[in-house]
Formats: sequence, structure tokens, C-alpha cells
Amino acid sequence: MLFKQQALLRQKLFLLGSLAIGSLLYLVARVGSLDRLQPLCPIDGRFGPRGQDEIPLRALQFKRGLLHEFRKGNATKEQVRLHNLVQQLPKAIIIGVRKGGTRALLEMLNLHPAVVKASQEIHFFDNDENYAKGIEWYRKKMPFSYPHQITIEKSPAYFITEEVPERIYKMNSSIKLLIIVREPTTRAISDYTQVLEGKERKNKTYYKFEKLAIDPNTCEVNTKYKAVRTSIYTKHLERWLKYFPIEQFHIVDGDRLITEPLPELQLVEKFLNLPPRISQYNLYFNATRGFYCLRFNIVFNKCLAGSKGRIHPEVDTSVINKLRKFFHPFNQKFYQITGRTFNWP
Ligand code: A3P
Repeated sequence: MLFKQQALLRQKLFLLGSLAIGSLLYLVARVGSLDRLQPLCPIDGRFGPRGQDEIPLRALQFKRGLLHEFRKGNATKEQVRLHNLVQQLPKAIIIGVRKGGTRALLEMLNLHPAVVKASQEIHFFDNDENYAKGIEWYRKKMPFSYPHQITIEKSPAYFITEEVPERIYKMNSSIKLLIIVREPTTRAISDYTQVLEGKERKNKTYYKFEKLAIDPNTCEVNTKYKAVRTSIYTKHLERWLKYFPIEQFHIVDGDRLITEPLPELQLVEKFLNLPPRISQYNLYFNATRGFYCLRFNIVFNKCLAGSKGRIHPEVDTSVINKLRKFFHPFNQKFYQITGRTFNWP
């Protein structure tokens, strides 16, 4: 009898031991794969003593849990009421620039516990059909959030569309506007690469970048080519300045966001009057992707989709030089207006 009991106890101990070792091995594997930069879970530690600007911890805990489900539209009315969730109009909009790194910026800002992103580009202000549906339609497109959080959306077409500044002004004249820019020639080539990929997907042929960017009759830069026009940042910004003072804009360096995202994000936190919450822990370099990826917590991390970070086709050096020379005076004006200087050639 005693022997039987001892055997049973040994069996139980063995089972418990295996379970503990198994969990430990899983944790080690998980932590190792995360390429960790900081201690195990510094999220709690990032919240100092309760202060005025403090964001309730539950907001962060829900970031990849319940709130994620709510954002996907999986919330019942009861849950919305219970958690006091609301759909708020954006307090800040990433208005552009297309291929500047707008998706990376939005996703990275969404790491902040006080920020909630509208996942899709809503195209409310640039699309007449959507705009005609009214502001309530727009608000209903926003994700659920806690009242203390701010909603951010991004639609890069806003920056270059004539009607948009006035329409946004009518919604909220004190809204904060984020513009992420890259060296204009690189941005234009990135823009071209995206269109080219779309054509290839449909088995269509397309012109070479050189042919589109340079007018064959004059041998000058083709200013009718949209990818070129979009990179004349100052021209578009001037239209916006008819409605909003420059203080309402923040310019993000899209080239630096690729190589060194944290300082750029910290500048945005400051501009949005948010307490600094995004840390190096939230960003890790993924050598396979060649980009920084996002870490929300110990279990959830993600990289941007493969359509972000395409390989650009090689472009004739003389064309690149011509474009750079063309953009130069516009860039100078842009630096002057925004007060932010870049090392663009
Ligand atoms: P490329 O595809 O030319 O490399 P947008 O989101 O506005 O379309 O911008 C896309 C660009 O975001 C990409 O352009 C890429 O370089 C840049 N980017 C910045 N940070 C990134 C990141 N962490 N992961 C992937 N792409 C990033």
C-alpha cells in the first residue's frame, strides 16, 4: 500500500517537473526568438508612480486583447458600454506623404498606450463620394477607444488633394497634422516601384522610370508625372498653410524612421503632448526584413507587410542627378517654411 502511494507521488512529481521544464523551455525559446534588447517585461516598469499624465495600465493590457477585438468590430453593445468605449474623430492625421513611411509611422505610434489607430486608410476627405456621406460616417469608421486615448488615421492622398485642407479645417481647425517625408528622388522612385508592381501583378507592361520622369522633348524633368509632383513637398504644403498655421504640422524624417525610429517617434510624442511611452523595447531590428519591427509585449510582435520595403529598380545616375537638381530649390523652401532641415542632396 505504502509502496503504491510512493509510486503515485513519484509519478505526480515527475509530471509536475516535466510541466515546469516544458514551460521554461518554451519561455527561453520565445525570449530568444524575440531578439530581446531589454529585461523580460519592462512594460509595467515603464509606468512610474501615479502621476497626472499617467495612462491607466489597463489601456495597454487591452492593446492586444479585448480592444483589438473591438477594433475588428467584434464588440458587443454590452462590452462597449461596460468598458466605456467610444469611437472618436481623429485628434491627429498623418496626411502624407505617400511612400514616405506613413504605414510604419502609424503602426509605431500605435505602440503608445494612449494612441489608437484607424487600421484602414479611410479616404474620407479626398474622396467626394465618401465625403458626401458626412462626418458621422467618418466617425463610425474609427476604432473603439477609451475616452482618454487619441485616434489617429492616415490617408497619404490627403497631402496632395486640393479640397482636403479646407475639409479637415471644417471638421477641426486645431487638429494636429503629421507629414512624413523622404528624400524626394528616393520617394519618387518608391512611388514608381509601387505602381510598377501593380502593373506586373496584372501581367501588364510599364514604362521605365527614366522615361516617365524625363520629358523626351525637352530632356527636362517631367513635372506632369505624378511621382515627381508629389515630391515637390513645398508646393503642397503651401496650400495647407492657407488653412493651418505651421505650428499645427509636425514633419517626420522618413529616412531616419527607417534607420533610427525611436528619436523620430519621441519627437512625435512630444508634438502630440503624449507622455513618452514608446521605448527601445518596442522596436527591434529584423535583419531578414532589413527593417525595424514592432514589439507590443512579450508575446506579440510584428513586422510590416512585405509590400513595405520593396527593392527599387536601378535608375540611371544622370536621371537621379537631374531630379535631385530639380528638387533642390523646392527643398530649400521646404526647410525654410518648416524649420526642419534635411541632408538631401
Ligand atoms: P520602400 O518600399 O520604397 O522601401 P508608405 O507606408 O507611406 O507607403 O511607405 C512605405 C515605405 O516605408 C517603404 O518604402 C519603407 O522604406 C518605409 N519604411 C519605414 N519604416 C519601415 C519599416 N519599419 N518596415 C518597412 N518599411 C518601412
